[in-house]
Amino acid sequence: MRIFLSGLMGAGKSTVGKALATRASLPYFDLDELIARETGCSVSELFRDRGEDAFRALEQSALERLIEAQASGVIALGGGAVLRRETRRKLLEAGFLCTLEASTDELARRVAEGQGRPLLEHSDVRARLEGLRRDRAEAYAECHARIDTTHLTPERVAKQIWESAQQAPIAVPLGARTYRVFIGSDIRHTLAARVQEFGSISSILLVTDTQVGPQWGRALSAELRAVGHAVTHVELAPGESAKTLESVDTIWNAALDAGLDRSSVVIGVGGGVVGDLAGFAAATLLRGVKVLHVPTTLLAMVDSAVGGKTGFDTRHGKNLIGAFHQPSLVLCDVQVLSTLAPAERRAGLAEVVKSAWIDGEAAVAQLEADADALARGEQAATLRAIRMAAGLKARIVTQDEREESLRALLNLGHTLAHAIEASSGYGGIRHGEAVSIGMVAACRVSHQLGRLAPEGVQRAQRLLDRLGLPTEVEPYLGDRVLSFLGADKKRKGAKVSYVAPGLPGDVTLVPLTLNELTVLLRQR
Ligand SMILES: NC(=O)c1ccc[n+]([C@@H]2O[C@H](COP(=O)([O-])OP(=O)(O)OC[C@H]3O[C@@H](n4cnc5c(N)ncnc54)[C@H](O)[C@@H]3O)[C@@H](O)[C@H]2O)c1
Repeated sequence: MRIFLSGLMGAGKSTVGKALATRASLPYFDLDELIARETGCSVSELFRDRGEDAFRALEQSALERLIEAQASGVIALGGGAVLRRETRRKLLEAGFLCTLEASTDELARRVAEGQGRPLLEHSDVRARLEGLRRDRAEAYAECHARIDTTHLTPERVAKQIWESAQQAPIAVPLGARTYRVFIGSDIRHTLAARVQEFGSISSILLVTDTQVGPQWGRALSAELRAVGHAVTHVELAPGESAKTLESVDTIWNAALDAGLDRSSVVIGVGGGVVGDLAGFAAATLLRGVKVLHVPTTLLAMVDSAVGGKTGFDTRHGKNLIGAFHQPSLVLCDVQVLSTLAPAERRAGLAEVVKSAWIDGEAAVAQLEADADALARGEQAATLRAIRMAAGLKARIVTQDEREESLRALLNLGHTLAHAIEASSGYGGIRHGEAVSIGMVAACRVSHQLGRLAPEGVQRAQRLLDRLGLPTEVEPYLGDRVLSFLGADKKRKGAKVSYVAPGLPGDVTLVPLTLNELTVLLRQR
């Protein structure tokens, strides 16, 4: 495991890094020292003689070489190493990135007049530290964990970092709105402790449904109350038919009756329906309060809980009214899937296959190896699948939060799926089942477009079959279902942006008229 320590000068990167390396029996590296050894110049000299830009380039290349050479280790970074976006993304992919923090007084004390620290020379230390803290706030926020070291010994900080690194959260790096996705077994009990990390929370509105509430939601409300939180518990009717403005209104009123304020949080405990409703209510209450998701269906864990799309259905269609509102935390506990109906769990696997095909060959091969275990609902395979899909979604959302380009790839299989769901009145078939059929159809269209060989189509279909998902496309190619293709809100003018899969990892958007798409779908 690679652990990177970032933070302002004086935050304790080197001291804590050495303590952590000893605790974890990992080699320790100090990036600044490495650069000094390689160049024969101190960091101060490099800054003075070559300037900050040249130093940052040196720093980035030294870091890349270190990552290449070391599969594990504790690496103390220079204070500005994370300032370049590409470097931050690389660090988040290559290991566990932890930002160490401390009060300005404590930093100034530790820095002791800034000897040997180039950015602090010739300036008032406190003012300079405050300035750097402000300038770097967004960059430092993009990490897997932040630890305030002000009142802690280096050993204690090392212990906390090590424990956090074991949990291996996925970070969704969005500047100050960065959040983490925790995936594990039995981790729902950490919710109360995680809520504490948001500082002073005035009250909590926990939204669930009448199916999930008795199983999981009420116990979580009780755990939050037990540590002193004022919790208002709302249970909505279950299922897609409850994804309405009336349900949103129920949440709004429960929140306002309870005197919710800007430092309250909404927590959604449930499937995609509860998550989308809780997220939308949170986006709009007092013009936006924090929302935390505890997804309880596989579909919600691998898809809807990450990415910030919220909304509800109207008589005009699904999800036509909504808002982007990123969560502040996502907690995926596979244990809650134990009460989920097998058909619901299987439906979630369709989104997993979709994600794997977008991700690449390794992800698809892993799913093929895990297919039987996944069909049986085994935890280890399920955890791997959630991690892959949530990781992919995090990477895509980071690059295209509002679906202006790349994020549209996540609609693989969804064009026909939405038409199938709409034609059935959103009751006859589960979303994931429709996605499975839509994926097979998308592979066939890709074959017609010359993007995918017949073996590729068969491979996708075989995998979906093994996971117990429907793959028969023909019953859904009649005029009635296809008449709903045009209602897709992803349509741009007369054309649909059809997601056409090539080999795994090679998925692209093809603009097609509805006529062209209809012909391609029906061709065999
Ligand atoms: N926001 C997004 O990015 C996004 C992405 C994909 C899907 N969605 C939305 O997600 C919704 C579908 O989500 P879903 O498939 O999770 O359906 P769902 O939320 O309706 O849950 C399915 C059923 O399972 C029950 N349930 C949930 N967790 C359970 C558990 N642990 N044990 C027992 N029962 C449980 C629910 O009460 C419900 O009856 C759709 O509305 C879709 O539009 C949103």
